[in-house]
Amino acid sequence: MKVQLAGIELANPVIAASGTFGYGIEFEEMVSLERLGGFVTKGISIQPLTGHAAPRILQTAAGMMNAIGLQNVGVDAFIAEKLPALARYPACKIFVNVFGYTVGEYISVIQKLNEAENIAAYELNVSCPNVHAGGMTFGADPGSLEFLVSSARSVTKRPLIAKLSPNVTSIAEMARVAANSGADAISLVNTFLALSIDIETRKPRLTNTTGGLSGPAIKPIAVRMVYETARAVNVPVIGMGGIMTPEDAVEFMLAGATAVQVGTASYADPRATERIAKGMESWCRSHHVERVASLTGAIDISK
Ligand SMILES: Cc1cc2nc3c(=O)[nH]c(=O)nc-3n(C[C@H](O)[C@H](O)[C@H](O)COP(=O)(O)O)c2cc1C
Repeated sequence: MKVQLAGIELANPVIAASGTFGYGIEFEEMVSLERLGGFVTKGISIQPLTGHAAPRILQTAAGMMNAIGLQNVGVDAFIAEKLPALARYPACKIFVNVFGYTVGEYISVIQKLNEAENIAAYELNVSCPNVHAGGMTFGADPGSLEFLVSSARSVTKRPLIAKLSPNVTSIAEMARVAANSGADAISLVNTFLALSIDIETRKPRLTNTTGGLSGPAIKPIAVRMVYETARAVNVPVIGMGGIMTPEDAVEFMLAGATAVQVGTASYADPRATERIAKGMESWCRSHHVERVASLTGAIDISK
């Protein structure tokens, strides 16, 4: 079940996705962290943030919408209070999701994390609004993306994963920009920009008006984007978006993913990540797949 990802060996390809698994430790009584390939922390910023007022999550017909507003404890408290507790689970690789409102903020967070131990890699959330570009997200503009990834590359001591926004016209172009700017791997997709309105009050259901859609509704689009990305770049791809079952995870690997992330599923079933990791192993056994890594990109498009 092992896979290699940008020089990191994972015990299996299943990683818990950012923002859906807290700082990892909250899940230790429900999930055997050692049974996961790893997990991604909630996005970490230079200053603590309280996020948006409630309501900030919402159930939809086939998934959920969220506008958490990037609530987190800030990098200093993360290093002092959250990271040390995770040293008990050395087999579970820790990926730290990093964001900022300027490139300088991303760099400052990475520089502080560079001094800490027990971190496998950084995942840059490029879906954050860039205050120097009128609030347009870094990941929506090739120039901003290039500057962000190459600046992070120049200071990082660890492998760098660029987590792409799906809210773009050409995901392949953005993936190429990130890889050419020094990303060691690409993860995708983040949430799709969405809006839900209460027709009785005529008000948006989320305080922030819009939110990000995730879960089963986005899966086929995410699989297509992973497929296009894997064909566009030579670095490993981590696929996510609506994975609820082991079979969903296999589908992402066939599309070209080296590893997968599971997000919204943990809201419906807090044990989903471990269940999916175990289920993938059973699936491989029953389908005579000796190495899970052999599934990566094994889609058969012959007619
Ligand atoms: C409540 C919630 C909070 C999230 N917070 C973050 C975050 O802080 N940083 C980030 O890069 N992605 C964040 N995401 C996006 C997920 O990591 C993932 O990319 C997305 O939800 C698609 O996967 P899924 O359908 O399996 O949830 C969040 C998603 C949800 C549902």
